[in-house]
Amino acid sequence: MMEPNVTEIPATVLVGVTGGIAAYKAAEIVRSLVKEGLDVHVVMTRNAQEFITPLTLQVLSGNPVWTETFHLTQEQKIGHISLVDRSSLLLIAPATANVLGKVAAGVADDLLTTMVCAATRIPVIFAPSMNVNMYQNPITQENIERLKRFGYLFIEPEEGELACGYEGVGRLADPGDIVEQVVGRLAPKDLTEEHILVTAGPTEEAIDPVRFLTNPSSGKMGYAIARAAAQRGAKVTLISGPTSCAPPLDVELVRVRSAEEMRKAVMKAFPASTTVVMAAAVSDFAPASRAKQKVKKQDASLTLKLKTTPDILLELGQKKEDRLLIGFAAETQSLVKNARAKLEKKNLDLIVANDVSRKEIGFQSDSNQVKIIGKDGSISELPLLPKRVLAHRVLDQIGILRSNPGKGRRRKT
Ligand SMILES: Cc1cc2nc3c(=O)[nH]c(=O)nc-3n(C[C@H](O)[C@H](O)[C@H](O)COP(=O)(O)O)c2cc1C
Repeated sequence: MMEPNVTEIPATVLVGVTGGIAAYKAAEIVRSLVKEGLDVHVVMTRNAQEFITPLTLQVLSGNPVWTETFHLTQEQKIGHISLVDRSSLLLIAPATANVLGKVAAGVADDLLTTMVCAATRIPVIFAPSMNVNMYQNPITQENIERLKRFGYLFIEPEEGELACGYEGVGRLADPGDIVEQVVGRLAPKDLTEEHILVTAGPTEEAIDPVRFLTNPSSGKMGYAIARAAAQRGAKVTLISGPTSCAPPLDVELVRVRSAEEMRKAVMKAFPASTTVVMAAAVSDFAPASRAKQKVKKQDASLTLKLKTTPDILLELGQKKEDRLLIGFAAETQSLVKNARAKLEKKNLDLIVANDVSRKEIGFQSDSNQVKIIGKDGSISELPLLPKRVLAHRVLDQIGILRSNPGKGRRRKT
């Protein structure tokens, strides 16, 4: 069942940093891009080096930082051209009013602007950041319009409190959003035909107005799947229990609390979906009744009566028709046996099984080590992977199952 993954992003990305107060945020952007598995090369203007040192960005990117056009070693092989030629994308974050004006006018008088001038075959994305008056200056606005007309891309600045003390538009877009947009640009668009319904996080089953039953699911796996699916062009509906995960870009997010609410939201979104990935840790039990007022502490012990919650996956399995249905099994014993039984009982196409008795993986952690088990009986054991990468591996299976439906069918014995 498992075939080589189709979504490694081995891309080289150039990050231009210019002399604005938000230059320090380039450190976070570079670090996050490296964590996404990208080969990041930083180019700094002379003025950017007044705000953040090349050493910082060199350590974070793991590559030499480029600063000079006329440098004996950096320019041995006409570096400004060769680096652009082997890059997949050029991001300028933060982009000053000055650099926007220079590029819009065709000026190439330092290494960064020379590289932008040479980057005609790759996407160039500007993330501007400046004082509100500088941003709203008609010259800046006309430069931005001109650059957009030539196909340059923009990640618009946000409105809010600015470092200069002003309020208004001009603050650098959120570094996490910038990284997500870059990764989204680089991801293959192989899921554009899919509408993927993803569930994530725990559920909370109320005992009284201030207490509830829950589990340690962080939602990270489901959010990673939703984010990766959107980056690969799918329409995504994410139904999430309470989590502290940042909402992914370009995803319809429906927040729920209890298993019952999750069921309602899933059944509403289900008809429009083509694939369902149930990564939520839905509580199997809920208090039989919910006290209207806070239950007072008593000397005697309190006995809670529990009822079972709706089995959403089972219901989806009965209604799935030609949709793909992918489930998760969090087990503490007999992992493969229990996961296979769940796959069979719930009519799934695939099940992703992980052993939650191992502390270093699973719930809460940023990484996971799983086995992907197919309907045809196949098992693929993946190494310990960041959930972000694992999400892509799970999504790769959608394409494989669609192009070869027999893979998902049970082998005749
Ligand atoms: C403390 C300080 C903060 C600055 N912040 C910004 C800024 O956020 N955005 C901007 O466009 N220019 C800002 N400037 C002005 C730029 O540094 C100046 O226009 C410079 O020429 C930009 O050079 P570069 O685009 O080559 O990096 C700032 C200047 C100073 C001294």
